[in-house]
Amino acid sequence: MSIELLAPVWTHLTQIQPVRAEGIYLYDAHGRRYTDFTSGIGVTNTGHCHPQIVQAIQTQAANLLFGQVNIVIPPATLTLAEKLRAIMPPGLDQFFFANGGAEAVEAAVKLARSATRRRNIIVFQGSFHGRTHQAMAMTTSKTIYRLNYQPLPGAIYVAPFPYAYQYGWDEETTVTFCLQQLDLLLHSQTAPEETAAIVIEPVLGEGGYVPAPPRFLQALRQLCDEHGILLVLDEVQSGFGRTGTMFYLEQAGIEPDILVMAKGLGSGIPISAVSARAELMAAWKPGTHGGTYGGGSAIATAAAAATIDVLRQEKLPENAAARGAQLMAGLRELQAEYPVIGDVRGAGLMVGVEFSDSAGKPDAATATAVQQACLERDLLLLICGSYGNVIRWIPPLVVNEEQIAAALVTFNEALAAAL
Ligand SMILES: Cc1ncc(COP(=O)(O)O)c(C=O)c1O
Repeated sequence: MSIELLAPVWTHLTQIQPVRAEGIYLYDAHGRRYTDFTSGIGVTNTGHCHPQIVQAIQTQAANLLFGQVNIVIPPATLTLAEKLRAIMPPGLDQFFFANGGAEAVEAAVKLARSATRRRNIIVFQGSFHGRTHQAMAMTTSKTIYRLNYQPLPGAIYVAPFPYAYQYGWDEETTVTFCLQQLDLLLHSQTAPEETAAIVIEPVLGEGGYVPAPPRFLQALRQLCDEHGILLVLDEVQSGFGRTGTMFYLEQAGIEPDILVMAKGLGSGIPISAVSARAELMAAWKPGTHGGTYGGGSAIATAAAAATIDVLRQEKLPENAAARGAQLMAGLRELQAEYPVIGDVRGAGLMVGVEFSDSAGKPDAATATAVQQACLERDLLLLICGSYGNVIRWIPPLVVNEEQIAAALVTFNEALAAAL
C-alpha cells in the first residue's frame, strides 16, 4: 500500500506496515518480526494487544460505545476515576478526562489560570508539552515544533532544567544554579503573584530523557507553597509504571497540585487525564471547559481501567525498575567500551544514551547512525534531545530479562557497525 495519501507533515522513522502485534513485538504482513523498543512513543506500556485489555475493549464495545458525559454519566468513566484514585497520591482525588496529552496540558493550564486568576506559566528548557498552540508555546525541546507557527500564546516563561550533563556540572551544582535562575525569573520577569503555575516534566522526555533530581522537585514544591503557585507535573510520558514506580513523583517524594497523564493510560486507545484535589477542581467554573469526548469514550475509559488493573496485577512498575537497572548496567558497560557514549541516565525503563564527539559536543550523526544500524537489525529505537543526539530506550514494561539482554547484544553490534 502506498503512503502517498498521507499528509507529508508526518515524518516516518520506518516504512514498516505492521498488521499484528504482541508484547514487545510488531509483525508485518510477511511475518517479519520487529522488536519495538519505542512503545509507540511511550503508549504501549502493557505491551501490544494485552489480552485482558483487548477483552475489556471488546466487551465495552458490545455494550456501550459512547455516552456523552454532559448528557449521561457513563459507568466506565466512574470506574476509571475509581481505579485512578487508587494509584494517585492522597491529595489528588478528582479527574478530568480528555483524548491526548496536549489536550490534557491545555486543560491543566486552563484549570490553573481559572483557579488562581493569575496568567503566567513557568516551564523548563527542553520541555515538550504537545503541539496545540498553548502546548506549543510551552514546548522548548526543538525549534521545529514552532517553525512557521509563531507568534504563540504569551505569558510563558522558560527556566533552566537541571540537565547536569548538558551543563557539564555535577548534580548539586546544577540544581543550585537552576534554582537560582528560577528565583531570578520570579524577580525579573514573572512576579510570584502573577504566576499561576510551574509546569514540569519530572523526567524530561523529548528534551533528552533526564530525570530531575528529587532535591530540585522538592524545592519547586516548597517555592510553589510559599507563593500560592500551582505545581503541575506533566507525567504524560513518565507515568503508568514507566520509571519504575506508577508515577515519578513517588521517587521525588512530592505531590503536585495538578497531575497530567496520557499515553500509557490507554494502552493505545486515546485518552488523557488531569487530576487535582477537589477544592482546586471546585474553582474551575462548570461549563468553562469540556469537549464532546470529555468523559473519555466508553472504549477508552474501559481500556484505561483495564490498563491500570494489568499494571498492578503484573507488577509492571516493579518490572520496569528491575529491567531498567539491567538495561542501564548493560549500557554503562558499553559506555566504557565506546567513548562516543557520553552519558547513560534514566529512571526505570525511560533511559537515555547521549552521544558526544571527542570535543564533548552533541553528536547527532552517530546517534542516527546507531539508530539506523539497530533498525537494520529489526530493533526499533527513538531519538530525542534538542540536538537529536540521545537514543531513548522506552520498551513496553512487559519486557523480560532475555529480551533486554538480546536488545543489548543488538545495540552492541549496531555500535560496532556504525562507528
Ligand atoms: C511529556 C509530554 N507531554 C505532552 C505530550 C503531548 O501528548 P500528545 O502527543 O498525546 O498530545 C507528550 C507527547 O510526547 C509528552 O511526552
